[in-house]
Amino acid sequence: MLLSILVVATVQQGLAAASPPNIRAVNLGGWLVIEGWMTMSLFDKIPNNNDLLDGTQILLKSLKLGKYVSAENSGGGKMVVNRQNPSSWETFKLWRVSSNRFYLRVSNNMFVSALNGGGSTVDSTKDTPKEWETFKIVRNKSLVHIKTFNGRYLQAKDESQLTADYSGEPGWDNNNPAVFIMTVNTALRGEFQLANAYSRAPQQVFDRHRNNFITEGDFQFLASKGINAVRIPVGWWIAYDPNPPKPFVGGSMKALDNAFTWASKHNIKVIIDLHAAPGSQNPEDHSASRDGVSTWRQEENIAQTLEVIDVLASK
Ligand SMILES: *[C@@H]1O[C@H](CO)[C@@H](O)[C@H](O)[C@H]1NC(C)=O
Repeated sequence: MLLSILVVATVQQGLAAASPPNIRAVNLGGWLVIEGWMTMSLFDKIPNNNDLLDGTQILLKSLKLGKYVSAENSGGGKMVVNRQNPSSWETFKLWRVSSNRFYLRVSNNMFVSALNGGGSTVDSTKDTPKEWETFKIVRNKSLVHIKTFNGRYLQAKDESQLTADYSGEPGWDNNNPAVFIMTVNTALRGEFQLANAYSRAPQQVFDRHRNNFITEGDFQFLASKGINAVRIPVGWWIAYDPNPPKPFVGGSMKALDNAFTWASKHNIKVIIDLHAAPGSQNPEDHSASRDGVSTWRQEENIAQTLEVIDVLASK
């Protein structure tokens, strides 16, 4: 299936050459780097909470107080429940731990934690999330309870402090301080989101996609229409195939090898495009960003990018 054929280049080269080579290429997007807008159904089929993926942005409004939860000063301190109008300090980026357990990342990129208050007060002071930064979201339509590691629930008793000390089952009354209205903005649908959300059988899902989205028949078709090159976007994890770092799923190098075979058989050239760099070069789906935070400029990511390019060049 060629959902996204895009003629990217008609290049004339070598003015002095006897017969200048004309490149007529198409882009095989959405194949080895997932972009949700091209493969909606893969995301629709995520079994649970398919709107709560990595990088999903949520707002939490106390039902009782009618105010939004906020990480004051963009994070690094306590959490309050006093905001009338939500903006960046009131927006939390989810990291999906399981289908209903999440880390909440605040706008300065620290994580919400119940650790320092021993389960009583909540702050946003952790760089590396662990148990006390894990929150179970229990949904009832747009209402939620948020359960902490030790079994208590978050509550908004007053505006000055979010606490993690509601014990027992909260119920859903308007007056209950442990009930929040959750607004969901699923901002990202990329390779990271898909792989991490299919935590049980991601291999099957990815194999099926890679074996069917582009096939030899497509190369044959392109060749018959006078196309003599394809551009194939790949992600950095391809260099570590067949065992890429989690949550990425092995098999993309095998698919690329198939493409080489089909290409040479049908006289098509391959332009490999390192489309998703380590650390994500931008906050978009197609850089396989986890949560829209881009850290590609960090030295170790640039060094790793060069390693990946070496692996690809050696192919
Ligand atoms: C969901 O909340 C409503 C009140 O808004 C309540 O009546 C209902 O029982 C709740 N449903 C579940 C499954 O708890």
